[in-house]
Amino acid sequence: MTAKITVIPGDGIGPEITREAVLTLQAAAERFGHTFAFTEALMGGIAIDQTGVPLPDGTVSLCRESDAVLLGAVGGPKWESLPGHLRPEAGLLGIRAALGLYANLRPAVLHKALRDACPLRSELAGDGFDLMIVRELTGGIYFGERGREGNAAFDTERYTVSEIERIGRVGFEQARLRRGKLCSVDKANVLETSRLWREVMHRLRGDYPDVEYRDMLVDNAAMQLVRDPRQFDVIVTSNLFGDILSDEASMLTGSIGMLPSASLGEGSFGLYEPIHGSAPDIAGTNRANPIAAILSAAMLLRSSLGLPAEAAAIEAAVAEAFSQGLRTGDIMGEGCRLAGTAEMGGAVRDAL
Ligand code: IPM
Ligand code: MG
Repeated sequence: MTAKITVIPGDGIGPEITREAVLTLQAAAERFGHTFAFTEALMGGIAIDQTGVPLPDGTVSLCRESDAVLLGAVGGPKWESLPGHLRPEAGLLGIRAALGLYANLRPAVLHKALRDACPLRSELAGDGFDLMIVRELTGGIYFGERGREGNAAFDTERYTVSEIERIGRVGFEQARLRRGKLCSVDKANVLETSRLWREVMHRLRGDYPDVEYRDMLVDNAAMQLVRDPRQFDVIVTSNLFGDILSDEASMLTGSIGMLPSASLGEGSFGLYEPIHGSAPDIAGTNRANPIAAILSAAMLLRSSLGLPAEAAAIEAAVAEAFSQGLRTGDIMGEGCRLAGTAEMGGAVRDAL
């Protein structure tokens, strides 16, 4: 097949890790006989520097004309003093909203070979775990009204029934594709938005009698994740709770450098990015872990291009590179060989 992919490297380590993901997609295209056309676009701090805004119009229209978007990371100390709506992160929120990408899938899988990198005692991690966080991505406190009033500041959490319903359905559908278990995470003992969330989820439950459903309060969920991650299959939750819980879950897989994500709306179009940030402290030093970016590319193949065998081949190649003992610094273990960003990516491509 032929496909158009927009690449947004962004800031910090974004360009280094994105490069490895693109090279991996090219290797997959070669092996399986596809043609992928890549076009680079600006977003984040680099866009501010070159165009004055974090999300230039041209970037949004380029994304709309493509089959999928591969994104690195945005942000850095250089742009931290800018007002909120002009910061690099505003570009990221803006593109998620502009493209209608309300469903963010964040799979957290502990690889067998990375057992030592997981901070949990081995009896807690067991044979590893495989869970999926479904994060609502275009609503909630991220997009509610915010501002300053004298010496005070406020942010607003707001969810409509239809926003909850569409992300809730993604949660149930994901559970059906996996082990059939869904945990909806909220703070219904305090927040009105969470009480509405729960009501809607309970109504949806009737449409998915085959899915084992439960509710969990977010503070408990944060605790349960480190107590027994294997109890979870799919977690569905709001924008802010999903942001926080996915960083927590990522560390259980060894490092935040491991977790990919897919941001989806209606249809097959999607934006794919690691869940981590731009790590300006190690930018340009060939030390960043490219695995989250590479696994995001695999998700792109599966979800937007309908190429599951190609996606699985990349995931297997990642596992193979790990079993050869190659590790970036963030997941380094005893008896392993330290690899730079490019060497790690190269090992995945060799395995592919
Ligand atoms: C993420 C990031 C972003 C978010 C930041 C950079 C705005 O933390 O994708 O998880 O909070 O959504
Ligand atoms: Mg985050």
